[in-house]
Amino acid sequence: MANVTVIGAQWGDEGKGKLVDWLSNRADVVVRFQGGHNAGHTLVVGNQTYKLSLLPSGVVQGKLSIIGNGVVVDPWHLLKEIGQIREQGVDITPDMLVLADNACLILPIHRDLDQAREAAATNKIGTTGRGIGPAYEDKVGRRAIRVADLADREALEAKIDRLLAHHTPLRRGLGLPEVDPAGLLAELEAMAGKILPYARPAWLLLDEQVKAGKRVLFEGAQGALLDVDHGTYPYVTSSNTVAGQAAAGSGLGPKGPGYVLGIVKAYTTRVGEGPFPTELFDDVGKHLGTVGREFGTVTGRERRCGWFDAALVRQSVALNGIAGIALTKLDVLDGLPTLKICTGYRLNGQEIGYLPAGLKAQGQLEPVYEEMEGWSQTTQGARSWKDLPASAVKYVRRIEELIGAPVALLSTSPQRDDTILMRDPFQD
Ligand code: IMP
Repeated sequence: MANVTVIGAQWGDEGKGKLVDWLSNRADVVVRFQGGHNAGHTLVVGNQTYKLSLLPSGVVQGKLSIIGNGVVVDPWHLLKEIGQIREQGVDITPDMLVLADNACLILPIHRDLDQAREAAATNKIGTTGRGIGPAYEDKVGRRAIRVADLADREALEAKIDRLLAHHTPLRRGLGLPEVDPAGLLAELEAMAGKILPYARPAWLLLDEQVKAGKRVLFEGAQGALLDVDHGTYPYVTSSNTVAGQAAAGSGLGPKGPGYVLGIVKAYTTRVGEGPFPTELFDDVGKHLGTVGREFGTVTGRERRCGWFDAALVRQSVALNGIAGIALTKLDVLDGLPTLKICTGYRLNGQEIGYLPAGLKAQGQLEPVYEEMEGWSQTTQGARSWKDLPASAVKYVRRIEELIGAPVALLSTSPQRDDTILMRDPFQD
């Protein structure tokens, strides 16, 4: 199978960046297909740490990198990120970075709206405040400004009018100052010349690449439980984060995604608000947060931590068509005498094996746990299955059984080379 799609199988922050970086070695093209700069991908290569939010992780290895049509793009942020990565010695040129010309833009008005709504809300979503939701709203509302519009002043003027006809009353209601259309036009025109060299029909380029036998790696952002349809709605992001979106968000068609690799953390975390059945408020929760350095890459917020939820990941395996998983951060569990795995839930006296759709029901779930013996040795940096303590192997095997998918890769530290390969997703 030629292509691989990497997605987060929980609530994001599973360690996708490292795995995508590791797999990019074997790929020719790396594609982002949803989300925006709400994502935070940390790549540690030797003594360099790269923090990416919008650029596909393939840029670090000089691979052809595509920001697909499914992504919402803050062009000013993109230019800033290109500048930062350049400063770290990675050159980025329009030969290697392609921005889909039909991708929609995130504008300052989207950020304003996201932040003002969160500040005013009694039921906060806990967004990253980067304008992601409002930008997707304008996309499906058919009033967004797309990358290609930057090359057409007439189109831009008409689109700005249409956009502000919608945003002005909203801004008034939230006490935000009015936006001057001429000022917005000037800002867009001043930036256009720097962004347009990267703009191309990405679907066409991808089609050519695939026909030439190239291998494509799709890089998901966030996680399946943050999917706007399948996640813990409304405490979700505003895009489809599941693997099927790799096709629609890149233009490659349903065969495009290929082998789906779900990235799974050996315990569970989430940032922002919303249901989290296995959340821990005790010392173990604190231990996971401290040892696992569970702070958001984008916002610096503390992540909520809890036991591994096999019911949740089993659901994710089905929703994404996951063929194999990459298990990350097993070493964070080192030294815990007893581990718990959630195998299902109790709701109103009955046992269920999945997360129900209703928010109230999600909030009432009581996890059903199975206990396992922990291990005292360190698993950090292990490079072979043989280096793992027997209890750690048992834990991993039990996870495989409960979720119904095999472990293809085991990541044992943030370093690129601390990865145990069980089966190669590109060969499977
Ligand atoms: P938004 O994507 O900024 O609208 O935020 C919506 C929800 O998704 C919030 O709970 C965020 O914390 C969460 N979220 C967005 N991006 C990420 C990510 O990359 N990792 C983890 N959570 C995220």
